[in-house]
Amino acid sequence: KTIWVINGPNLNLLGFREPGIYGSLSLQAIEDNLRKQADAAGIGITFFQSNHEGAIIDRIHEAIGQADGILLNPGALTHYSYAVRDAVSSARIPTVEVHLSNIHAREEFRHTSVIAPVAAGQIAGFGAASYTLGLSALLQILETREA
Ligand code: DQA
Repeated sequence: KTIWVINGPNLNLLGFREPGIYGSLSLQAIEDNLRKQADAAGIGITFFQSNHEGAIIDRIHEAIGQADGILLNPGALTHYSYAVRDAVSSARIPTVEVHLSNIHAREEFRHTSVIAPVAAGQIAGFGAASYTLGLSALLQILETREA
């Protein structure tokens, strides 16, 4: 089993970017934690980040037939990208949406996720732990499917 982790715009700047909101861990550090968790669970994991909407969509398409689950932080694309949403629903791969910050407690425009209706679920507000919780959720989904 393999999980693909996909991060959208500006998440390459984690650690530097508004640390009061997003924390002090770099994306690399977050990915290192996820790899440890995946190794312990005996599953494969791959990482991808892009600032470009089309590259995120291409990556979701590439996941078809390759990934058993997707952990997705679409960044600001969360709030308006019907194209990313359509890619997620087209791929038919269980996808958990994650956010470091609690998007529901922030500016009005962040309260809406156009991705959430096509995701298996959403985890927001736990900082870097949103990713590890999201991976745990995906592992549960995969176990349930096998049972
Ligand atoms: C984010 C929340 C988004 O609103 C924002 O545009 C981001 C990061 C988060 O992880 O909290 O880029 O997805």
